[in-house]
Amino acid sequence: MSRVAFVNGRYIRHADAGVSIDDRAFLFADGIYEVIEVFGGRLIDEEGHLQRLARSARELRLDLPVAQAALRRILRELVARNRVADGHVYLQVTRGAAKRDHFFPKAGTPATLVGFAHRGDRAAAEARARAGIKVIALPDIRWKRPDIKSTSLLPNVLAKQQAREAGAYEAWLVDSDGFVTEGSSSNAWIVDGGGALVTHPADSAILSGITRARLFQVAAASGLNIVERPFTLAEAFQAREAFITGATTIVLPVVAIDAHKIGSGAPGPVASGLRAAFHDFAPATP
Ligand code: PDD
Repeated sequence: MSRVAFVNGRYIRHADAGVSIDDRAFLFADGIYEVIEVFGGRLIDEEGHLQRLARSARELRLDLPVAQAALRRILRELVARNRVADGHVYLQVTRGAAKRDHFFPKAGTPATLVGFAHRGDRAAAEARARAGIKVIALPDIRWKRPDIKSTSLLPNVLAKQQAREAGAYEAWLVDSDGFVTEGSSSNAWIVDGGGALVTHPADSAILSGITRARLFQVAAASGLNIVERPFTLAEAFQAREAFITGATTIVLPVVAIDAHKIGSGAPGPVASGLRAAFHDFAPATP
């Protein structure tokens, strides 16, 4: 079965899908995106992702080309046409195609809207969670607005690749004051000595993860406290547990940061428990 993508109002074979070389996202990374988990054929936390897309658009003064109801229909079509049981759908909106110029294109230039889906491998994801992941620490060299989910991801891409080359799965980004902000494509968490979950406040230094937000509910139901405050790398090395969250990872236990084993060096009960409970709390829409 061939994959199907959505490009500006049409569903076409993924392999044939394309946009103009004048597209603002191609030339300037002038675009925004969302990645939504599909679990058992349902969209997880769709509402939160669509709200964040609308916020990203407002922050970049970019007009979404279709209404939320249309976006919801497109997401469903992509899930159905690609027969995704477990996987992800991706939506991207850009400031459209126009002759290359740093100024915004003239009013009325239509935004570009593309979407695609990919199937995931649930067994492989669970195996990764059982093993836990390694993380390396790198300086956070991103721009000062990573709270906007823009396609401007070059520092993230470089960090992720450096992690892979170091035998790790994720890079934790450290700001100039020595605090861990987040991962290159996930939010970062530790479990402190008292058993509280600690994660960076959702200010302009991190992307306010939809999975992160949902974890407040999951944690509360398990009687766990969440403290939103920056933590240092030194504190993370001493943590009882560490983990990451994101739409593509849900909750993944971290078993090592750089050369430091975290806790026992195996996935801890808190992270594993949160992962197991996550889909009992996250709204799943058909
Ligand atoms: N990334 N922080 C960053 C920098 C991210 O790129 C992501 C998600 C998150 C977690 O956000 P959420 O829980 O809403 O997925 C945090 C997506 C999955 C990606 O770029 O592929």
